[in-house]
Amino acid sequence: MSEPILLAEGLDRSFGGIHAVNDVSLEIPEGSLHAIIGPNGSGKTTLFNLITGHTRPSAGRVRFAGQDITGMPYSKVARKGLAKSYQITTVFPLLTVFENVRIAAQAAEHSYVFWRPADRIKSVVRHTEQVLERIGLAHERDTIASNLSHGDQRRLDLAIALATSPRLLLLDEPTAGMSPTETAATVKLVEELNADVTILMIEHKMDVILSIADRITVLHQGEKLFEGAPAEVKSHPRVQEVYLTGSL
Ligand SMILES: Nc1ncnc2c1ncn2[C@@H]1O[C@H](COP(=O)(O)OP(=O)(O)OP(=O)(O)O)[C@@H](O)[C@H]1O
Ligand SMILES: [Mg+2]
Repeated sequence: MSEPILLAEGLDRSFGGIHAVNDVSLEIPEGSLHAIIGPNGSGKTTLFNLITGHTRPSAGRVRFAGQDITGMPYSKVARKGLAKSYQITTVFPLLTVFENVRIAAQAAEHSYVFWRPADRIKSVVRHTEQVLERIGLAHERDTIASNLSHGDQRRLDLAIALATSPRLLLLDEPTAGMSPTETAATVKLVEELNADVTILMIEHKMDVILSIADRITVLHQGEKLFEGAPAEVKSHPRVQEVYLTGSL
């Protein structure tokens, strides 16, 4: 078997007296859709930040696409093909949908070599249009980002991440605050994107995850409580217990 696209080993991080992430390891095979679930404050976002270089781990290693990226700043990690779409949106509110995606596409297109600037601009514009089409935002291309519906703003987040042509996409609660209809559309979109890109996503809505994930890691108080296929997670007594207490 080939090396996993992402390998995290023994990641650890405390904030003052809070052990936010406690010796967590992850192995994500290329092409898979892996989910992380857990109650509020269980360390999900911190684990993402340790992977992306936003927070330095006090212990542990991260390998991405065969390279050690532990402690590397996100700007550098992103250029290697790891993109994130966060709970906190990264959209420029006063720019149009098209401009927001174009900026991300332009920042990432360093890998192509064009002799004429006009060709480079054309290529970025084409790529931006393709991403908007893919995400279902083409009809909103000239809308100012802050005027989009909440669901479309989250889609724009996804488009910005996708514009960098990542090999691994990290999504932190992509359906947060969405209506059931918007949630269903986003779930479908995430599934479609997974045809081309490996996805690691945090999700609160259990039903959402059970239907699309290949594997699920359950975090509880910073530790890995369980990891397995959706059916195993669903029937695991400890996971059920955490759910029934209403903390998820
Ligand atoms: N920068 C920080 N400084 C201090 N404490 C932090 C920091 N980041 C996270 N924490 C604490 O670490 C713990 C884990 O937080 P984290 O945000 O990773 O949880 P989460 O699982 O993403 O929660 P949620 O479901 O609410 O998004 C919490 O107790 C949180 O208060
Ligand atoms: Mg979080």
